[in-house]
Amino acid sequence: MARLDEQAFPHGPYPFFVLRQLLTAFPDFLLLVEEGSELHGYVLATSPHEAQSWVLSLAIAPALRGQGLGRQLMTGILGHLRAQGTHSVWLSVEPGNETAVALYLSLGFVPDPGGPRKDYFGPGEDRLLMSLTL
Ligand SMILES: CC(C)(COP(=O)(O)OP(=O)(O)OC[C@H]1O[C@@H](n2cnc3c(N)ncnc32)[C@H](O)[C@@H]1OP(=O)(O)O)[C@@H](O)C(=O)NCCC(=O)NCCS
Repeated sequence: MARLDEQAFPHGPYPFFVLRQLLTAFPDFLLLVEEGSELHGYVLATSPHEAQSWVLSLAIAPALRGQGLGRQLMTGILGHLRAQGTHSVWLSVEPGNETAVALYLSLGFVPDPGGPRKDYFGPGEDRLLMSLTL
């Protein structure tokens, strides 16, 4: 996962220890696309707290993008979250990440009306928050 994260988020992958701790905290909210020992993609979310969950990460290996895997993972995790009692799902996305924003919009996510939040992840790291009511 750490290797895939480095490919998917070259400017700011989760540090290994953060990924490790997120997996320990939310082991039942991880979906993988794998073939043998090859990891092709994953999505990780938080367990519901007061009926709210966050999608923490979504990544597909570069060579396998555009084949529906990202949509498949998102649809899968949203169904699982709904079944576990989540009513609202939130995520943050880099405003210029047109592929991801298009995917989330097509799934019904609504962008924060205030637009991207400046320096959300530190200086120069603006993020658009999007939410979906399940
Ligand atoms: C974002 C990401 C997960 C999408 O995964 P994917 O498997 O390539 O996406 P899919 O093939 O399932 O396509 C889903 C939708 O994404 C959008 N999309 C896919 N490729 C696109 C492209 N080249 N340009 C614009 N939109 C695109 C379309 O809306 C598409 O819907 P469609 O199936 O109706 O055409 C993948 O590009 C990725 O890992 N990117 C790097 C990491 C990242 O940005 N993660 C999201 C962080 S918030």
